Amino acid sequence: MHLFKMEGPWIRGMAWLYDAIVAAGIGDLYDAVVEGLLCDLPAGFRVLDLGCGSGQIAMRAARRNPEAFVLGLDLSQGQVARAHGRGLGIPNVGFGVGDALCLPLADGGFDLVVSAAMIKHLPDRRQGLAQMQRVCKEGGTVCVIEVDRDLSREATRGFVKKWRWVLPGTRWLCSEYFVRFVAGQGLTERELVTLFVDAGLSSVNVQRVPGQPFVVGIGNR
Ligand SMILES: C[S@@+](CC[C@H](N)C(=O)[O-])C[C@H]1O[C@@H](n2cnc3c(N)ncnc32)[C@H](O)[C@@H]1O
Repeated sequence: MHLFKMEGPWIRGMAWLYDAIVAAGIGDLYDAVVEGLLCDLPAGFRVLDLGCGSGQIAMRAARRNPEAFVLGLDLSQGQVARAHGRGLGIPNVGFGVGDALCLPLADGGFDLVVSAAMIKHLPDRRQGLAQMQRVCKEGGTVCVIEVDRDLSREATRGFVKKWRWVLPGTRWLCSEYFVRFVAGQGLTERELVTLFVDAGLSSVNVQRVPGQPFVVGIGNR
């Protein structure tokens, strides 16, 4: 992956740029997802954060649920090293390297499989959803958060406004970049429904996040 093409492994420096600049914009949404889906989990509940990056979701979930176990997997060794460093001292979270298209995990091992801003990086998104479904327990939940290709200009502006370290007068350029090169490779609400249904998930509920350039899908195995 590089600045203009989302597919493939992250080039050196992208993870740092993402965490330093963009992650601040998405923190509120992650907090809401963790509160809505990942709070008060029972002891022994197992969560997989796929494409965990530096562990934004995994660490929130683990801190919120000390009795649950959270595993974060990412294709990039650099990302996993960053996540591992940040997660030191949180006993119920672990991180490892793994490809979402070919998960090194047994069938049905997780109560909840969540993936944030990762699906757009996959050359085969259907395969990614099929793998998420496979490692989810029967009756468990799959959740995908992705950039909404049908985003509004207003939602984009609101999101980019929260980015850090943006040079004065260049936010419009960041918005243009985001719309064209990031959201342009994201998913529509409809495409996400199709991915969930094709993966055999049931009770599928896909919604655009009000006022934000993201779409969230939830389904049950
Ligand atoms: C935009 S980042 C999102 C990171 C994190 N989920 C977050 O929201 O902060 C996308 C992540 O997907 C990872 N990724 C890309 N292709 C992948 C694959 N095939 N399997 C696992 N992770 C992958 C990248 O290495 C990167 O860390």
